Amino acid sequence: MNGNDIPYSIDIDPECFQVPDGATKFIRQLSDMQEMFSDSEAVQSVLESGNAVIYEYWESESEGPEEGLSYSITCIHTGTVGREYYMTKGHFHITDGDEIYLVLKGQGLMLLQTRDGEARTLEMSPGKLCYVPTNWAHRNVNTGSEDLVFLCVWGPRIDSDYAVIARSGFPQLVVKGLQGPQVIRNQSFSAPSAAGEEVKTKGD
Ligand SMILES: [Fe+2]
Repeated sequence: MNGNDIPYSIDIDPECFQVPDGATKFIRQLSDMQEMFSDSEAVQSVLESGNAVIYEYWESESEGPEEGLSYSITCIHTGTVGREYYMTKGHFHITDGDEIYLVLKGQGLMLLQTRDGEARTLEMSPGKLCYVPTNWAHRNVNTGSEDLVFLCVWGPRIDSDYAVIARSGFPQLVVKGLQGPQVIRNQSFSAPSAAGEEVKTKGD
C-alpha cells in the first residue's frame, strides 16, 4: 500500500485496531515469544489455558527504488505473564536507522538499552513522541488497563535483530506491583556485547 511517489492518506482509529486495504496484519502470540518473558513457569501455565495474543500490528514497508519511509501501527493487549506485563519482543537495529514512535492510545513504557547494557525508560501515553536512536534496542510494554496503540515510522533499509534480545533480555523488567507498574532489575540480564555473535532475523 506504500506508494513512494504518489501522495495518499489513510484513516487511523486508535479506538479500533483496523488494518487498511493493502496492508498485512501480523499477530504475536505467547508461543512466538516464550523466551522473552522472565517467568518460564508462568509462560507454561498461560499456554496450558490458551495461546494468548500478546500484540498485533500491521505495517506498510517502503518498496522500490525511491526507498521512502515505512510505518506500522501496533496494538499491545492488556495482560500479564506471571507479574510481567504484555510487551513486544524488542530488537536492535543491525543497519543504521532511527525510529519515531507516536502513542495513540493507552499507557505504557518503552524500554531501551545499548549493547553495553546502558538502560533508559520512556513513558508512553497518548500524544507522546518517543525518539529511538539507531544504537538503542527497544521494547514496548503495556502497563495500562486498555490496549496500547502506537505508530512507528522508520527510514529505508533497516534490518532488525530479535535473537540477541531473546538471549540477553533487557536490563529492566516491568511488573505488576501492589501499587501499580514497577520497573525492576532483571536478575538474569547479560549485556548483549557479551552475548556472542548476533543472528540476523527478519520480522517485527
Ligand atoms: Fe525498531
